[in-house]
Amino acid sequence: PVRFVLDCDTGSDDAVAILAAAGHPGLDLVAVTTVNGNLAVGHVTDHTLRALDLAGLDVPVYEGAARPLARPDLPVPRAVLNKDSEFHQHGLGLPEAVSAKREGHAVPFLVECFMDDANADVALVAVGPLTNVALALALEPRLAERIPRLVVMGGAHGNGNVTAAAEFNFWADPEAAEAVLSAGLREVVIVPLDATHSAPLTAEDCAAFEGTAIGAAAAGLIRHRLATDQAARASAAAPVHDPMCVAHLVRPDLFTTAVEAFASVETAGARTLGQLLVDTRPWRAEPANATVALRASPAVYREFLREAFA
Ligand code: BDR
Ligand code: CA
Repeated sequence: PVRFVLDCDTGSDDAVAILAAAGHPGLDLVAVTTVNGNLAVGHVTDHTLRALDLAGLDVPVYEGAARPLARPDLPVPRAVLNKDSEFHQHGLGLPEAVSAKREGHAVPFLVECFMDDANADVALVAVGPLTNVALALALEPRLAERIPRLVVMGGAHGNGNVTAAAEFNFWADPEAAEAVLSAGLREVVIVPLDATHSAPLTAEDCAAFEGTAIGAAAAGLIRHRLATDQAARASAAAPVHDPMCVAHLVRPDLFTTAVEAFASVETAGARTLGQLLVDTRPWRAEPANATVALRASPAVYREFLREAFA
């Protein structure tokens, strides 16, 4: 199985990623780190533990950054964003956790984990704001050569979801996203909204997942997205972003269109803060630093999830 560490801000789609990781025979989740994002980090950690307990996964959870890298808070406070606080403040509808987070902070854990030769094959999957990853790289720049592969959910080549230009994870900590993309990592795969919106899930998918306990829990979370997501209201299908990064680890055929590019993140624009720039110009000055997925196969995504929840 593919071993990986998940850095997340759980979040209903983050929780589905955890459940899918637990269920899929090709995946081995070795640890989880949590970060400020969808919710304050304390809630994020609680939701993460709930999802792991429900999945029967006993893996270490380390709580991480409570604030963005260079800002006192998100660019617009969470209270002003249209996040579904009722659902989010009540554990995502998941049973209360019995397990507890580990002592110690996520950032030194990430450094120790990826500096350990025994973990040379462990991928890092980051599906929240990139604060922890940026801090770990600042603490130990050699991580850029040690992490074999970073898969990131973030950004949008077309429209964003928080603003016309920006997707939530990159917008929530633009300085961290830019620091990570410019750190010289060995292999970076960016999974922006273009990819996640190209393979949305439906009520029919939820019914297909429901045969197992973790599948039923995932179906509940996806149904909530179907009822509340802005994109789902228009089309009866909801993008379920974060599990796509996990799926990519075992299904390299998931992305049907991807480009090699110099990817960077806007940290100063009044209207474009957090925007992902995907520079594919052959004459640009910088070498490519990422593979950016632009389209996913709905059939492959469904197959991955069905296998995970079977
Ligand atoms: C991303 O933002 C969060 O709300 C989701 O969990 C996902 O990681 C999508 O923009
Ligand atoms: Ca997330």
